[in-house]
Amino acid sequence: MSKILVTGGAGYIGSHTVVELAEAGYTPIVVDNFSNSEERVLLGLSQILGKEVICYKVDCTNTAALQEVFSKEENIEGVIHFAAFKAVGESVAEPLKYYHNNVAGLVALLQVMEANQVARLVFSSSCTVYGVPEKLPVTEETPTQKANSPYGNTKKIDEEILRDVAASGSSLRTIALRYFNPIGAHESALIGELPLGVPSNLVPFITQTAAGIRESLTVFGTDYDTPDGSCIRDYVHVVDLAKAHVAAIRRLEKAEAVPYEVFNIGTGQGSSVLEVIHAFEQATGQKFNFKTGPRRPGDVPAIYADVTKATQELGFKTSLSLKDSLGSSWAWQQKLMTDTSNK
Ligand code: NAD
Ligand code: WQD
Repeated sequence: MSKILVTGGAGYIGSHTVVELAEAGYTPIVVDNFSNSEERVLLGLSQILGKEVICYKVDCTNTAALQEVFSKEENIEGVIHFAAFKAVGESVAEPLKYYHNNVAGLVALLQVMEANQVARLVFSSSCTVYGVPEKLPVTEETPTQKANSPYGNTKKIDEEILRDVAASGSSLRTIALRYFNPIGAHESALIGELPLGVPSNLVPFITQTAAGIRESLTVFGTDYDTPDGSCIRDYVHVVDLAKAHVAAIRRLEKAEAVPYEVFNIGTGQGSSVLEVIHAFEQATGQKFNFKTGPRRPGDVPAIYADVTKATQELGFKTSLSLKDSLGSSWAWQQKLMTDTSNK
């Protein structure tokens, strides 16, 4: 069974990808420093998979520690690199923390991969690289724009690093997946997104408000040039997103794999904030308080993906709807509350 190293494999998207890799017959090897996750995620993974998941508590910026993992685990055939910090607001306040973790971490990983002749990499990029797009939906050809946060800039710089390495004649073969807005949780509700502090993302804020943890949700802006005035995003179920990583690994296994490719991963459908609120109420039967407020600075008015390339070349297909996603987010929120009340 092929071993795939999954950096950040205890995190939100990483843990769901570990499940899909294992179910597709791969052996995932998790590397995580638990800076934004908890070791109990491993318990959820072993409950879902019926076996322990191999995990190393290692920081990806530490080349020596990474090398030890590669030495111990012989025959690693590919890497999926999720490990990064992702809080946009924090990145504005602490840019060096983000450049170190997200950029130096990638460079360290690439050095260790090269030293160990591991040539397949799937990289977590983001639709943030498109900035405020002029035309919708965005294709992979849509020009990238100046990032509006240090976090976004780390993803742009990482993509450039990967493009430069590809152009250098290296044997590295990389697929960068530009995720749109991942939401939802595994159907078992044994893994999901672990919220730290007050969530800044829409769906965790909705589920926490419906659960009574937050008093009310504020819709950030209802005066955008969109049909109902609220912002539009492409919300993709994390399990569908996780499956795209397995498809990317498979594509890299082919002899004709090219040095560097980029794919949008979304649903191809835009949903407004107000539509998401109503879909949540319909999917769960839960009502919650929300009010409208001013725009959030830096928000993109509308963005959603053209996923033709991923559909045709990766065989990517979403099988879960917005309501599925929101229903699973709610089930996960309830599970989190049960866990907390048991402590
Ligand atoms: P997450 O924070 O839940 O997962 C990241 C994991 O990486 C965490 O478990 C964290 O402990 C670990 N980690 C961070 N730095 C590390 C380091 N130096 N060494 C080892 N482990 C480290 O985030 P996520 O939502 O699962 O995101 C995964 C990736 O996808 C990130 O690269 C993120 O930038 C990217 N992404 C996320 C979103 C999103 O909305 N969630 C959208 C686009 C792109
Ligand atoms: C979605 C919509 C808000 C909270 C962020 C990152 C981006 C990417 C995905 C990693 C927006 C609105 C939100 C609330 C609201 N991450 N909203 N009330 O802004 O698309 O992207 O996560 O790469 O880089 O910037 O996601 O979930 O924060 O917001 O009205 O309390 O919900 O204004 O329109 P966003 P989000």
